[in-house]
Amino acid sequence: MFQHVEPFAGDPILSLNEDFQKDPRAGKINLSIGIYFDDAGRIPVLDSVRRAEAIVAANVGPKPYLPIEGAANFRSAVQGLLFGADHEAIAAGRVATLQTVGSSGGLKVGADFIARYFPGSQVWVSDPTWDNHRSMFEGAGLTVNTYPYYDADTGGLKFDAMLSTLRGLPAKSIVLLHACCHNPTGVDLTRAQWDALIPVLRERELIAYLDLAYQGFGDGIEADAYAVRALASAGVSFFIANSFSKSMSVYGERCGALSVVCPDAAQAVNVLGQMKFTVRRNYSSPPIHGGQIVATVLTDPELRREWEAELGAMRERILAMRKKLYAVLKAKVPGRDFEYFLTQRGMFSYTGLSAAQVDTLREQHALYMVRSGRICVAGLNSSNVEATAVAIAAVL
Ligand code: LMR
Repeated sequence: MFQHVEPFAGDPILSLNEDFQKDPRAGKINLSIGIYFDDAGRIPVLDSVRRAEAIVAANVGPKPYLPIEGAANFRSAVQGLLFGADHEAIAAGRVATLQTVGSSGGLKVGADFIARYFPGSQVWVSDPTWDNHRSMFEGAGLTVNTYPYYDADTGGLKFDAMLSTLRGLPAKSIVLLHACCHNPTGVDLTRAQWDALIPVLRERELIAYLDLAYQGFGDGIEADAYAVRALASAGVSFFIANSFSKSMSVYGERCGALSVVCPDAAQAVNVLGQMKFTVRRNYSSPPIHGGQIVATVLTDPELRREWEAELGAMRERILAMRKKLYAVLKAKVPGRDFEYFLTQRGMFSYTGLSAAQVDTLREQHALYMVRSGRICVAGLNSSNVEATAVAIAAVL
């Protein structure tokens, strides 16, 4: 019956993480998957999350299905976090928000919706982007192309080339953008660059689709939402999928949301309705537990303060690791420019290492990173950063 089913080649990120778990070598280093590890190499349980979970557990009651669009308290807390509580778009009721199964679930619901209502549109993603973006949009039946983004010569952004490609796209093209902490390169647009991009999106009638999986890991919770708020204030209609996996360290709870900013409240009602139809045909409704932990952290003033401080500490630790890696590499490989480790933001950096060099690092130094040369800086800690730099220096 299933002889025609071919083997799954594995996922470039998740399979690598599984290989790491199986590797018996002592001193192995995991910079593959985008997970924040603390300085002891553990996935932290945030105190704010632990306390919120205790509150949720103390109030345990019947567990009916959530509405298709998710819990009302979760959805409104997400809107406040993304847009700021007083944003005009929220007050006008023109943002349709659903609680989704991680932001991946949100991306997929949005992709299915786009395939249905914009069947002539193609998707444009940054070159490079998170491996799964292409897969998800293609899985929804959409054609995926790339726009110029990462500049391998400088470790920065090809902003002019990006803008000129976007200027030439047909109206209603879908443009996937990373709101902050670009995955995989760590190269973000500056505020001035967002300000230059937004009129192009508006004038060319392009449909921005923002992925915000790392809010708070770049320059802070509010600063990392700059693009979201600027687009909404500019009257642009767009999609945004956001995640709490990393920012609250609740990966397996699958807490995310999809919001669509619409021109007016009447359109938002219909968009929400059709996205609900999409969800109903996929997984029917989201789970309760994780979303209630997130909503409790976001809405309880004391837990919120605690979470913001904990997120700030994670951000600072990543920055400290960037500085340390930079310093050791600079000393070990004189004459080579490693400045990009300091300018890139968030969990990831592009090292510029080739796939062959990455393979050597894994085979000979038990150092795991994605074959594109992406490292998860949040996997570095005071015990492995030196060894990482020594190993990288050895293959350069
Ligand atoms: C990553 O990019 O490593 C993370 O977003 C985890 C994943 O699902 O790929």
